[in-house]
Amino acid sequence: MARLVIVSNRVALPRERGARAGGLAVALREALAKHGGLWFGWSGETSAEASDTPRVLRTPQGAYATLDLSEAEHAGFYVGFANSTLWPLFHYRLGLIDFRRAAFEAYLGVNRRFAAALAPMVEPDDLVWVHDYHFIPMATKLRKLGLRNRIGFFLHIPFPAKEVLTALPGHERLVADLCAYDLVGFQTQGDVEAFQGYIASEAGGRVGDGWVEAFGRRLRVGAFPIGIDAEAFAEAAVKAAASEETQRLKDSLAGRRLMIGVDRLDHSKGLPKRFEAFQELLGTHPEHRGKVTFMQIAPISRGEVAQYRTLRRELEGLAGRINGKYAEFDWAPVRYLNRAFVRTTLAGFYRFACVGLVTPLRDGMNLVAKEYVAAQDPADPGVLILSRFAGAARELDGALIVNPFDIDQLAAAMHRALRMPLDERRARWSGMMDIVRRHDITHWRETFMAALIAAPPVSSAAAA
Ligand code: G6P
Repeated sequence: MARLVIVSNRVALPRERGARAGGLAVALREALAKHGGLWFGWSGETSAEASDTPRVLRTPQGAYATLDLSEAEHAGFYVGFANSTLWPLFHYRLGLIDFRRAAFEAYLGVNRRFAAALAPMVEPDDLVWVHDYHFIPMATKLRKLGLRNRIGFFLHIPFPAKEVLTALPGHERLVADLCAYDLVGFQTQGDVEAFQGYIASEAGGRVGDGWVEAFGRRLRVGAFPIGIDAEAFAEAAVKAAASEETQRLKDSLAGRRLMIGVDRLDHSKGLPKRFEAFQELLGTHPEHRGKVTFMQIAPISRGEVAQYRTLRRELEGLAGRINGKYAEFDWAPVRYLNRAFVRTTLAGFYRFACVGLVTPLRDGMNLVAKEYVAAQDPADPGVLILSRFAGAARELDGALIVNPFDIDQLAAAMHRALRMPLDERRARWSGMMDIVRRHDITHWRETFMAALIAAPPVSSAAAA
């Protein structure tokens, strides 16, 4: 069996054990243990002069190799091009883009330097699986170094419509880089169609069912909706429901109901609109005042990027204003927490919350939606309010699907969720739980890897 080489910006080193490791990390580690091989990426450290020799950690379940970024690379590649250009662009936020040519050069430079460090560690039969927007040019760079391996790419975030993508100077180059892979996987069919739309009308290529042909290559494309380890998460939620933290949360609410949101503090997550909708709910439906608490857990993310700092200030203002307006001496409507919790603790919180709020303005998939579903008590499940712009909405049609730009609709959905009868909650939940179970993380990994193994090898990949 071929070995597996995983490439991603963040590498989940094995010391991040148990509950701290996300489902994706666990699934990829399992794949490493099964196939043997290597997980390669950024160490998470920056240094003044970064070495070109990876730090390697060997374990019986596979090796982990990481490189530091230099301070200039961190500023140009990570803060600059990846998170101030590609992230807002791919999430349809053209107004938030900060494009600089030097940052694009830094992005290409890091891809080149990382490819040069990785290439000597790759064996001829290895399967290479690259993840996410940080490393789109990786296949091009590896092929320049002579690698003829099968190389697959999975985009964890949305792929934008061509009208949005073409706002990026150098978009042709990035799409040509995607075409250097043998398989490109997206979260949803909508993303596949957006990519094919670009290929057909911007790149002068050809598209068909599950393939594209452009820039002198033919490659496979497909939707591989990512999932969670549904059984393990459901079990964790049952256990966590009896944990000290969940008990303390319950006690602190003194019989009030809980609506919960858990997101990285990111402008794609639609947090200000969610806060405003909650304010609208309290304004238009006074019966909920003093009866329901909205808890938003939002760990700080990418604090080096200016737009994230602005968002943080905005949310602090909103939370303060809502509490100032509606709080009573024994009830604060909003609990806003900028800290992270381990997943098992969150599982207990999700199970206790009668409404889960997942209302991004745009999101590749959103696994919180799936975790909220998996954590519910089948006898008395909560209601998921889900943005139509999250990839998860394509699968979780038992949720209350909302347009997060419509604050009135969002407030009305909160009201409906808080009053939904048990029968309807059960019916909606059981359909969603079936899907979360069926499309779990193992299914995602195995279908992607099977498609990569089945992709025609490089020698016959030239365009017809
Ligand atoms: C998203 C991206 C990941 C990224 C994560 C955390 O889920 O798809 O690639 O690792 O956010 O962001 P960070 O910038 O902290 O790695």
